[in-house]
Amino acid sequence: MSTVSFASDLPARNESAAPLTYLVGTLQTVTFCGSRLVVHDGSAPTPRLNSVVVSEYGAALGLEPVHVGKVRELYDWDDDTFLMVATDRVSAFDYVLPSPIPDKGKVLTQLSLWWFEQLGSLIQNHVISTAVPEPVKGRAIVVEKLKMVPVECIARGYLTGTGWAEYQLSRSVCGIKLPAGLHDGSKLPEPIFTPSTKAEIGIHDENISYEQMLKLTGAELGAKLRDTTLAVYSRAEQLARERGIILADTKFEFGRRADGTLVLADEVLTPDSSRFWDAADYTRGLLTSFDKQYLRNWLNGGESGWDKASGTTPPPLPEAIITATRERYLTAYQQLTGCAFVA
Ligand SMILES: Nc1ncnc2c1ncn2[C@@H]1O[C@H](COP(=O)(O)OP(=O)(O)O)[C@@H](O)[C@H]1O
Ligand SMILES: [Mg+2]
Repeated sequence: MSTVSFASDLPARNESAAPLTYLVGTLQTVTFCGSRLVVHDGSAPTPRLNSVVVSEYGAALGLEPVHVGKVRELYDWDDDTFLMVATDRVSAFDYVLPSPIPDKGKVLTQLSLWWFEQLGSLIQNHVISTAVPEPVKGRAIVVEKLKMVPVECIARGYLTGTGWAEYQLSRSVCGIKLPAGLHDGSKLPEPIFTPSTKAEIGIHDENISYEQMLKLTGAELGAKLRDTTLAVYSRAEQLARERGIILADTKFEFGRRADGTLVLADEVLTPDSSRFWDAADYTRGLLTSFDKQYLRNWLNGGESGWDKASGTTPPPLPEAIITATRERYLTAYQQLTGCAFVA
């Protein structure tokens, strides 16, 4: 597999040829900004053909993106900064779904900004400015260009999702042994750090052990990632709990400045990157999600007619599912920030 997978490694806009179609998800070959090529050589799990994602904001901005991800698009802003635009695209099970969720990009951007501010005393972040062009107002920020760390830093305070699946097989998550008798939704004795690979385009992120992560990051950076992730999760979990929301787990992405400083980047503590549960319902034994879980449940249920194992792109979402998903994202935003969302 050959690719450059970190946005900060991408060529400056003027070095690249006119962008072609951006293929995101699960492909044999990806042509990216004229010069980015991912060629599968059989050494990794075979990717499936998935989604074609075309830059949505390039034309309105009069710019070529240097990176089109499943959700976000990055544009060269100046030598040291990117314009990071959150679209309304939604991904599930590594597919970009054919139906966007209206305003989602704005909710993710506004909620990330709120969290960056709450967490400012704990960790530096990549935000430079919210002064952005009109077509992306509310959904874009100007961010510092960073060298992204090649792992996703996940903290879990509760057992669910892939952690719950792994626990049922091995009574451990990412190599961390856990007590017997836990169930889906159990609070863990203490929050755990469970890194995953930051997969190249088209390949699933994979949970890895702490030791495997150290091979990618080195010992010093690895320890710092774990300690920082757990510290930020604990603070965020407390803030969310005070607002009636359980932060079951979350994923952070960190980058580094040229001088090595670790900086919190990407989106933070959003319904795309986290599991939020209603705290009152939780005490009654119910897991009510204000996040992407609702969508995943619909896709996995019989009603969607979609089989995750089929390798086919998920179907368009019915209007009712789009509306209900949007409402959950808005609830998370409003309950956490205490402010009404204004589109
Ligand atoms: N400050 C930053 N500097 C460089 N790259 C960044 C920064 N913040 C986020 N990124 C990267 O930008 C991309 C955001 O796009 P996204 O849609 O989330 O991509 P993906 O499909 O990989 O999830 C990610 O690859 C993320 O690592
Ligand atoms: Mg992402």
